[in-house]
Amino acid sequence: MSDLRLPYFDFLLAQIGKGNEAVAKSFGRHVHWGYWENPAAATYTDEDYGTAAENLTLQLTGMCGIEDGQKVADVGCGFGGTIASLNERFDRLDMTGLNIDERQLERAREIVKPRAQNAIEFVQGDACKLPFADASFDRMLAVECIFHFPSRDDFFREAFRVLKPGGVLALSDFVPSPFFLPALWIGRAPFLKKLNDFGDCNFEATRAEYDRLAKESGFEVAQVRNISLNTLPTYGYIEAMLERGTGKGAGLIFKTILNMGRGLGRSGLLNYTLLSFRKA
Ligand SMILES: C[S@@+](CC[C@H](N)C(=O)[O-])C[C@H]1O[C@@H](n2cnc3c(N)ncnc32)[C@H](O)[C@@H]1O
Repeated sequence: MSDLRLPYFDFLLAQIGKGNEAVAKSFGRHVHWGYWENPAAATYTDEDYGTAAENLTLQLTGMCGIEDGQKVADVGCGFGGTIASLNERFDRLDMTGLNIDERQLERAREIVKPRAQNAIEFVQGDACKLPFADASFDRMLAVECIFHFPSRDDFFREAFRVLKPGGVLALSDFVPSPFFLPALWIGRAPFLKKLNDFGDCNFEATRAEYDRLAKESGFEVAQVRNISLNTLPTYGYIEAMLERGTGKGAGLIFKTILNMGRGLGRSGLLNYTLLSFRKA
């Protein structure tokens, strides 16, 4: 089985391993963008970021319609933060976190323990070949990871297969405006890919592409929310965290990428979007 190693997870695991408290507070549980109801109130501290990351989880799990007693899969589960959050808020949940990177799963197993009446399992696997039986889950989450998967078509087919009828898939993705697609095609150039620390990412799925993915796999689109403006302080926080926490700063290329991300989010060219899909 492939064991994808994303450069930013190499960095996070190394920093957390060295006891970097700042990184542990902001990215030791969730490894995703933050959500601020009022972005102007962001304070750019590690604690504020940790709260904002949890708030993004609350937005997406809310859209997924999780209830006590369900069987829930979290695909691309990182360090298990989404499962940790559900574990703290619900009872009798049977939760499975799946990740391609065994190192992240080791940390998840260490830090996320089921509360009484909940069950948690972390398994290694590929989101595009889910090692689960047909119709075995009520709910599926895929938080900020689908752009790394080898194929959105394969993932949607697999998600539809393993969800029960009435099941819901909720995910977050950076969804481009159609006007921005040509720039993304230029960004496919291998030398440009080598410059970034985020590993292989495909941000080419527009809103229309999600309609197609849903239709062809059998889902109905349930809800779509563009929350880009609520996530914008993330860019400033990452820059500040790198300055403060590592003593090395963000570096020119990474700073440029962060500034681009902020500009694209603000202008509506690349939109942080929450989407949910129902299997009828
Ligand atoms: C930005 S992180 C998000 C982690 C987690 N969902 C969270 O919100 O904290 C992206 C995750 O996708 C995982 N991933 C990437 N490709 C994958 C694949 N093909 N199958 C399963 N997981 C994958 C990575 O290992 C990483 O944990």
